[in-house]
Formats: sequence, C-alpha cells, structure tokens
Amino acid sequence: MQSVNRRTFVKTVMVGAAVLTLDAAVTAPFLSAKPKGLESLGECKKVSIKCISEVGWWDNKVLISDMMKGGGLKEAEQWSCAWDPKNSAGSCSLVEVEALDGSKTRFLIDTGWNAEYMDKRFKDEGIDKMLKNGEIDFLYITHEHLDHFWGLETTLKYNPEIKIIIPSTFHPPAEKFIAGADFPKCGAKNTVQHKGKLVKFQMGEMTPLAKGVVSVGFDNPIILKIQGEQSLYFNVKDKGLVLCTGCCHQNVITFSDYAVKNLGAQGKLHGLYGGLHIAPFGKLDDEPKGWVKNMASYGFTKIAANHCTGLPAVQMMVELGYPVVKGTGKKGSISDLYIGNGDSVEFG
Ligand SMILES: [Fe+2]
Ligand SMILES: [Fe+2]
Repeated sequence: MQSVNRRTFVKTVMVGAAVLTLDAAVTAPFLSAKPKGLESLGECKKVSIKCISEVGWWDNKVLISDMMKGGGLKEAEQWSCAWDPKNSAGSCSLVEVEALDGSKTRFLIDTGWNAEYMDKRFKDEGIDKMLKNGEIDFLYITHEHLDHFWGLETTLKYNPEIKIIIPSTFHPPAEKFIAGADFPKCGAKNTVQHKGKLVKFQMGEMTPLAKGVVSVGFDNPIILKIQGEQSLYFNVKDKGLVLCTGCCHQNVITFSDYAVKNLGAQGKLHGLYGGLHIAPFGKLDDEPKGWVKNMASYGFTKIAANHCTGLPAVQMMVELGYPVVKGTGKKGSISDLYIGNGDSVEFG
C-alpha cells in the first residue's frame, strides 16, 4: 500500500466526485497568521459522546439511484431530488462536556433524517425526555445534508425553544425548513416551528462553544450542492485534542492538519469521533486508502469513526493497528467494529 503525499492528496480531493468518495473540492478554511496554542482554547475535563444514530440511510444503491435521477453526482441538489422515504435514517450524537469545575454542557450534534426513525432512536436513548426537561443545551448542526438535518422535527417537538447553531452558509430552503415548512418533492417536512435562538457560525472562522471547546467552519463545496461544514475540537486536560465531526466533508487530513497548523496540536491529537467520509458508499478506492494510511501520522490514541467513514475504511484502520473503539452492533448498526447506535465513548 502506498502512502499519499500532500500533492496527491489534494489532487485526489479534486477528483473526489468521480470516485464517489469525496466532494467537488475542498477549500482550507482561514488559517490564522499566528498559530494559537492549545492553551488559548482553555481546557475541559472530559468529553462523553453517545451515538444516537450513525446510519445515514439503509441502502447505498437506492441513495445513488435517487441522486442519479436527480441530475447525477455532480449536479443533484438535495432539495430537488425525489428521495425514497423508506431509505432514510439519519446521523445524530449526544455530547456531554464536563468542565474543570464539574459543570456540564450537553448538546446534540445533528438531528438525523427520517423523523419517525429518529423518534424511535430518541425514545430508546431517553433523548425525548432530556429535551423536554431542558437538559440539552443546544442543537449543533454540522452541515445542511439531509441525513443530519431533515429529522429536525423530532428535536423540535420535544423542545421547540432549543437554541440551534448552523453554518452561515445554509441555503434559503434550509432556513424556511427550520421555521416550519414542507417540501413534498424531496420529502423534507417540519411541522414544528422553531421558537428558540438561531445562531449562525461563520465559515472559515473558529468560534468558542464552551471552555475547551471550539467550532471551526470549513467553507468547502459538498456533494448535493451544499456549502460548508463545521466541526469541533475539544481540548481535554492531560489528554490532548479530541476532533469531532458530522461527515468530515473537509476530509480527515484537512481536519487534522487544521489542529496542527492553527492550534499548535502537533503530537497532541488524542481522539477522533464521527463520520469521516472515506468510503461513504461502501467502496474503498486506492486513493482513500492512502488517507487512512496517512492518519497514522497524527498519533490518535482513540478513534471512534462511524457513519460515512464506511465499513471497509474502519476495517483498514483495524488492520493497520489503529486504536479503533468497538461497538455493540445493535439497534440498527451494521457492524460491531465501530461505535454505533446506542454506543458511547469517553475521552478524558
Ligand atoms: Fe452524513
Ligand atoms: Fe454529509
């Protein structure tokens, strides 16, 4: 297996749509002239993440067929495609950050796709009650993709007042959807008007979320005509940096490099959680294999990659001896090889 140098990597990213692994292009976010030290983020004591659902959709063939009918991989637009409603599931995780003083911040990363399915997952994991009781501080949406966002009604019906944080690049239909709208052609429906605060984080910028936690917006074009994804960095005391994503459309290398270049995290990358978009449609091509191989250079000591990382990519990480956290393979997850539905992982 060959390693992939930076130039090859960028080239690969640029042809990503053709190989069904990445998106049209990746643009690095704003790089600060002077890298900040990790201490500038502050520190937290511990981060606990529970995967509520990591199954974006059930059948890759159905999803790709819907995309082809909607204009093809490069031209399809998510709000215009006629998605098969039986194929939808969704991505959503619950995060609990414990501060050094013991106080806790809880939030959801994304809210899935199929409202009925998400309601079942919420009830199974007690998210419905936590939302009702105001125990979840906010909903952080990583990007506009259907499998992370269109299940919004399930969150809102339990707490319409919840604060929602979105990338500033959301398109007009996405904002209408949050306010309560029905898009019959694509099957996106939200009958519950959002009554809380809607916060937009600028892409290309770093925004603090809590002590030791920052969000960074990566302003890249993404498949299905989406723009920008925001991801999280947690600075865990005595452990190092934990990186957390929805789909990581900016790519795991760009995501990790940002921490090294802008946060002075060389040698201090501890954990990784979320979808890494390496083999999202179940096929691991030669060049993405190189990205998996190059992940070794960051020295992660705990990897909980799920969702669009793709099973063959996780299998390769295991073969390479990476510290992949196993799951139970229950509650709808397709494998116990990684943290799936109902599984939890702790950093700190
Ligand atoms: Fe996704
Ligand atoms: Fe995505």
